Amino acid sequence: MNSKSVLKRPVFVIGFMGSGKSSVAATMSKKFGLPSIELDAYIEQSQGQSISQIFDEVGDAGFREIETAALADAASRPAIISCGGGIVTRPENRKILQEHGFTVCLDVSADEAASRIGDFRSRPNFQSVEHASRLLQERHPLYEACADAMIDTNGKTIDEVADELFCLLESKGIIEMSRH
Ligand code: S3P
Repeated sequence: MNSKSVLKRPVFVIGFMGSGKSSVAATMSKKFGLPSIELDAYIEQSQGQSISQIFDEVGDAGFREIETAALADAASRPAIISCGGGIVTRPENRKILQEHGFTVCLDVSADEAASRIGDFRSRPNFQSVEHASRLLQERHPLYEACADAMIDTNGKTIDEVADELFCLLESKGIIEMSRH
């Protein structure tokens, strides 16, 4: 008899740019066979434009409208949903995160985020380490307010964080093993 991991509810992965949200969600999918949705990729696909092009065309406020619609759409699916770093800036998004699933914040310092990202050009809101550091300070209380759990990712590999997240979700009964 084989066993398979099953996700009982949506799991939102939030945190600052460079915290590893997308890579951790992809690893959870690959390693444990869990469904995953990368919200920025979902937006790019539905809009037929890159995130940078969307920012150039409609700015941060326009992007946030599109992001809220994408989040509302994804929120009913039992998947690991990795969200963009600014998802917590809108009250309506915070409400969805708090009411529709289990939310995990991946914590990272601005310095470590910068070294992971390398080339900032694909991230319109990561302009320099100094700017990112101020933005992170501003957003941190919002991440804390939305998160059911925090995982410190500083100095850890993606694989280590994915394993930690898996154990956490198992301990909360959000991942169950089904035998077939
Ligand atoms: C943003 C983070 C990005 C993307 C957009 C805006 C932000 O996602 O949604 O560039 O304001 O923090 P990542 O956190 O996946 O880089």
